[in-house]
Amino acid sequence: MRRPLVVANWKMNGNLADNRKLLQSFLASWQGVHHAEVGICPPAVYLPQAIELLGQTNVELGAQDVSAAENGAFTGEVSAAMLADIGCQFALVGHSERREYHAESDQLVARKFKAAQSHKLTPILCIGESLQQREAGETLMVVGEQLKAVIDEVGRAAIASSVIAYEPVWAIGTGLTATPEQAQEVHAFIREQLGAVGNSVRILYGGSVKPSNAAELFSQADIDGALVGGASLNSDDFYSICQAAE
Ligand code: G3P
Repeated sequence: MRRPLVVANWKMNGNLADNRKLLQSFLASWQGVHHAEVGICPPAVYLPQAIELLGQTNVELGAQDVSAAENGAFTGEVSAAMLADIGCQFALVGHSERREYHAESDQLVARKFKAAQSHKLTPILCIGESLQQREAGETLMVVGEQLKAVIDEVGRAAIASSVIAYEPVWAIGTGLTATPEQAQEVHAFIREQLGAVGNSVRILYGGSVKPSNAAELFSQADIDGALVGGASLNSDDFYSICQAAE
């Protein structure tokens, strides 16, 4: 049985004062989450603050990106070694906003995935199609190609110790959530593409997950949790989504 996982992606939001309020408010209700695994991805500059506030809990910390390089002349980048050094447990790789705004290719994302694992970080591989690709009936082809690039780089066995997040680009930040059936179809496809390791890999859904739709999404056989953006910036909403995953 796959343990449910709910991860907050704060994106480029927050400040020291608001972060403290948000995390302390979430932790005040945290005791009600017993089974689901929960992770928080603040902006990298706030990881030390989050680690200080959450270090004694079993809430896990992750980065929103990781360099594919080990170290050196890569201005502005943060390496997997550095994230592991400060106590991160995981890293998002290939988020659609990075694929779009930073021209991250499937191959670069695969190298980031490998770099994360080389320092024992759990990569959360973000994949998903654009509205145009969905309307053209290319969803499974696009998602399959994104996944194949990582399998080609690290092999299926390495995928077993990772997490995958299916995030239809057209549902991110739009309030237009994929229906549970739409999400389940792609999750089942992803699991099938993983072959023997598919059954153990957790596949999260991301894209306008809210307290109002979380339970129905999580009721789907191949949806193992959520990668939550906007709703994770409200502690009550994020807690409600975590409870729905219990
Ligand atoms: O990484 C999660 C994010 O892309 C989803 O954002 O605001 O639609 O929950 P949101």
